[in-house]
Amino acid sequence: MSDLHLGLAGVGRIGVMHARNLVTTPGVGRLTVADVDADRARAVADELGCDAAPDTAALLAAGIDGLVVATGTAQHPELVLAGVDAGVPVLCEKPVAPDVALSLPVLEHVAARGGVVRIGHQRRYDAGYLEAKRAHAAGELGWLHSIRAVTCDVTPPPVAFLATSGGLFRDCSVHDFDVIRWITGREVVEVSARGSNNGDPAIGAVGDVDSALAVCTLDDGTLAVVSASRYNGGGHDVRLELQGSLATLLVGLDERAALRSAEPGVTFPAGPPHLTFAERFADAYRAEVAAFADLVRGVEGELCTPEDAVAASRVADAAQESLATGVPVRVEPLP
Ligand SMILES: NC(=O)c1ccc[n+]([C@@H]2O[C@H](COP(=O)([O-])OP(=O)(O)OC[C@H]3O[C@@H](n4cnc5c(N)ncnc54)[C@H](O)[C@@H]3O)[C@@H](O)[C@H]2O)c1
Repeated sequence: MSDLHLGLAGVGRIGVMHARNLVTTPGVGRLTVADVDADRARAVADELGCDAAPDTAALLAAGIDGLVVATGTAQHPELVLAGVDAGVPVLCEKPVAPDVALSLPVLEHVAARGGVVRIGHQRRYDAGYLEAKRAHAAGELGWLHSIRAVTCDVTPPPVAFLATSGGLFRDCSVHDFDVIRWITGREVVEVSARGSNNGDPAIGAVGDVDSALAVCTLDDGTLAVVSASRYNGGGHDVRLELQGSLATLLVGLDERAALRSAEPGVTFPAGPPHLTFAERFADAYRAEVAAFADLVRGVEGELCTPEDAVAASRVADAAQESLATGVPVRVEPLP
C-alpha cells in the first residue's frame, strides 16, 4: 500500500489543519473529506485539491484505507465505531467520547471487533516531549521528585464552547495528564484541585473556571502539579518540567517560550511566543498524521491507544470532581 486513500470526517478548526497535513503526508495518494456541512467539505476539498464525499456514509463507502475523525466530541463514538465496522484503522481526535461512561462501550466494541483505533494526543509526537520520555527512560534524570506541567491559552474560547467543553481540566489539562502517564509509565492515583475566576464572569456562570491547578500523586508517590489558564497574555504557554535526583529537563523552553526573565541582561527567550496550539504543535500534528499513515501500513508508533486516552480522561474527571467538591479524589483504574 504505497499510495493510501485516507478519509477525514469533520473539517472544522482542527479538521482543516489535519486535511492540510494529510495532503502533503508522504505515501498518502488520495484524501476524501466529509462534513455534515457538505458545502464546507466541498470548499476545503476545492482549496486543497482533494475529494469531498457528500456525507460520512459515502466517505466510508469510498474505499478508504483509514479514517481520521475530527468532528465535535459528541460524534466521536458513532464515527469511530463506523470506521471499525468498515474494517479500517481510525485516528480520532481526543477525547474518545464526551465522558468516561460513554467511552467504555466504545473500548469494548473496538476490542470485540479487533479494531485499530488511536486517539489524537499530538504531544506524543512533539520533539521535546519525546526527548523527555527518552531521557527519563534512560535514567538520565535519576528518580523524579517533582513534575510541573503547564497549559495556558492566550485568550478564552467562546463561552458557548466552554459551556460544553466539560471543564478546563477535561478540555486543556487532559493533554498534560496523558503525557505524565506516557512519560513516567505511572498511574495518577489521587488528584487535589483548585480553580479561580478572575476573568470574564460568564465563564463562572457556565460552571467553569478560567484558571486551575491540580496536585497529582502518582502510584510511586511522585508529585505532579498541573496548571492551566485561559488568560495567558504572554503567549500560548505549554511546558513540562521534570525535576529528578540527577538532573532537570524542561520541555517548551526555547526561544519562543511564552515568558521573560526577571534577571538583568538576560535576553532569552528572544521570541516571538507562540500564540495558538496549532502554531505550538504544528510539527507534532504533521508527525501525528504521518504516524497514522504508517499505522495504516501496519507500522506501530507512539499514537495514543483508546485505553490510554480514557485513562487520561479519568484523571481529568477526578480533577473536575475535586475542583467541584474541594476534596482530594482517588482515580479509580479502568474496569
Ligand atoms: N488535539 C488537540 O490539540 C485538539 C485541539 C482542538 C480540538 N480538538 C478536538 O477536535 C475535535 C474537533 O474540534 P474543533 O475545534 O475542530 O471543532 P469544530 O466545531 O471547529 O469542527 C467540528 C466539525 O465537525 C463537523 N461535524 C459535526 N458532526 C459531524 C458528523 N456527524 N459528520 C461529519 N462532520 C461533522 C462540523 O460541521 C464541524 O465542521 C473535538 O473533539 C476537540 O476536542 C483537539
